[in-house]
Amino acid sequence: MTSEWVIQISYQPMLIAIFIHKGSKTLKNIEKTKEFGINVASQEQTSEASVAGGYSGMEIDKLKMKNIFKIIKPQKIKTPMISGCTINAECKLVKKEKIGDHFMLVGKVVHIKYDDSKNPLIYHKGRYFGLGSKVEPGRREVNVNQETLEFFREIANGKFVLKCVGVLVKSQNKFLVTSGSKNALSVIPFSMPSSGINHRSHLIEFLKHEELDLQVNDIPIMKRLILKNGKNIQRVNFVLFKGKIQRSTDVIKWKFITGDNLIRSLV
Ligand SMILES: Cc1cc2nc3c(=O)[nH]c(=O)nc-3n(C[C@H](O)[C@H](O)[C@H](O)COP(=O)(O)O)c2cc1C
Repeated sequence: MTSEWVIQISYQPMLIAIFIHKGSKTLKNIEKTKEFGINVASQEQTSEASVAGGYSGMEIDKLKMKNIFKIIKPQKIKTPMISGCTINAECKLVKKEKIGDHFMLVGKVVHIKYDDSKNPLIYHKGRYFGLGSKVEPGRREVNVNQETLEFFREIANGKFVLKCVGVLVKSQNKFLVTSGSKNALSVIPFSMPSSGINHRSHLIEFLKHEELDLQVNDIPIMKRLILKNGKNIQRVNFVLFKGKIQRSTDVIKWKFITGDNLIRSLV
């Protein structure tokens, strides 16, 4: 059958869930054989998708239609697989459960192959589509000098997106910056929380450690940036909280927003 309700639900073991209706021949086949194949249709396979979805195996043996389906031999199961797809995953049934008016069948992938040269067929609002152009993420591009970019790339250490949490303290047209031991750049106070750690609590601890006595608001602001210098880039997410000075220390410096692209992009 053609099935749109197909989703991977675990990496290790690799499990895929499918949701299929009671009256289908596919459900009966899977109940009998305890296995199934998932063949992710490629853009060239609209006929295969229409026929597999438009006729039931009760009506006609679809796989015998040689002008529609090209069959390939499976590696680890007995169910025939379909040629020309982007993915062929051979699955053994591990769970069956009635959910709403469909059955959820979970299969453990016992063999999988992927054809990089093919693009998947997209089904949306009852029509077939090919993959469109890449959607550019909503990040603000910020041109920075080489020193700034290198600083962020170094702390990103190969990460696609560097996640930071920082505090914005404003006084007239100036923003509080620090040029702490590690950070010779004088940027707003910021740090990189490990994953799973509450960002605001991490920031408060960090500020204490840096001897910055600030009061931190509890409403986060998200700034998604691409720092750029020539062809070199680093994606950086800043979660920012507004702050107020409780006690002034000599770590504190002030910087005008104008003249600093990075700080301008954060405020
Ligand atoms: C694009 C498309 C997506 C479909 N997705 C599902 C699905 O996720 N679950 C389902 O039960 N039927 C789905 N169907 C309907 C079945 O493919 C259809 O009922 C088919 O005839 C069943 O074949 P069978 O009786 O040989 O199993 C879909 C049909 C199309 C055209």
